[in-house]
Amino acid sequence: PPPTVLEAENATISQGVVESNHAGFTGAGFVNLDNVAGSYAEFTVTAARAGDATLTLRYANGTTANRPMDVGGTLVDFPGTGAWTTWATRSVTLPLVAGANVIRATSATANGGPNLDHLAVTGPANDPVRPA
Ligand code: GCU
Repeated sequence: PPPTVLEAENATISQGVVESNHAGFTGAGFVNLDNVAGSYAEFTVTAARAGDATLTLRYANGTTANRPMDVGGTLVDFPGTGAWTTWATRSVTLPLVAGANVIRATSATANGGPNLDHLAVTGPANDPVRPA
């Protein structure tokens, strides 16, 4: 099945704003998190079944400094992409429960997070349940 794409601009945002001034995003814009540790975007990932899912965050980081984030309990690096209009992806595999999973991406340093475009979900937990 295709990935389930959750736009960051629809996430629950703490210490950040939705913007659209850097081209190349999907959907209506992206999330610019405040440059503080603890700023976050929180996604609700609905899993068809319990199991592993690969969560792929699309992001831009126009600086040369890594902007690590805690994604669902795993520390993920978001190195510079060269420009705020250059988007890249980083993935983490997490075990999900069937139904709703609240996954928070939280800035780990005082630089804040990168700009976040979307979260794409693939893997067994994203597969539809097929009749036996
Ligand atoms: C610039 C850029 C923003 C980005 C910010 C940052 O202001 O225009 O999109 O979020 O830098 O450093 O986080």
